[in-house]
Amino acid sequence: MRLFLDTANIQEIEEALSWGVVSGVTTNPSLVAREGREFRPTIREIAALVDGPVSAEAVSEDAPGMIAEARELAALAQNVVIKLPMGVPALKATRVLADEGIRVNMTLVFSANQALLAALAGAAYVSPFVGRLDDIGHDGMQVVAEIVDIFCDYGLETEVIAASIRHPAHVLAAAHAGSDIATVPFGVLQQMVRHPLTDSGIARFLADYRKIPG
Ligand code: G3P
Repeated sequence: MRLFLDTANIQEIEEALSWGVVSGVTTNPSLVAREGREFRPTIREIAALVDGPVSAEAVSEDAPGMIAEARELAALAQNVVIKLPMGVPALKATRVLADEGIRVNMTLVFSANQALLAALAGAAYVSPFVGRLDDIGHDGMQVVAEIVDIFCDYGLETEVIAASIRHPAHVLAAAHAGSDIATVPFGVLQQMVRHPLTDSGIARFLADYRKIPG
């Protein structure tokens, strides 16, 4: 199980990388817009900071547009992965891009059938959106588990990125479901570190240390 950071914020990425636990970054248009900076320079800067894959989303709505945009984004850095939103244009584009060696992360995946199609088209990653499924009363993690089972049963090499992670329990459930990766907001990563018994334990050890003579 690996952790990616789901953000386009440079400070968050630098801080999380310094913890030694993050091996990739995922972005989307909403996350980049939040930073108030231009798209391509932001992706280039993130890709230079991170050794692992950095997902950048193409926003064209047809396959030829997605392919052209993906080639341009992939040329920004060798570790850029192209996020394409699930659909027929994205499947067509994925097949062409995969054959060229450009890695695709199929995003906005909400069912195991969508994930299966993405894998068959050659996607390197699929991103089921757990939180958004939970938001509408579905069990997002069940979809992750189904995808993992199918990929495992049929030897499909596409990796599963549990996305739209909202809290630490999602990360734990993604690990139990066998997800290859969970992409987490920085706030969730911070929450994962903390435990009240760790805090009180540290306070007690420090207090006792101060009582030691000498
Ligand atoms: O990056 C895609 C995904 O993680 C978005 O999450 O919280 O907007 O549903 P959210």
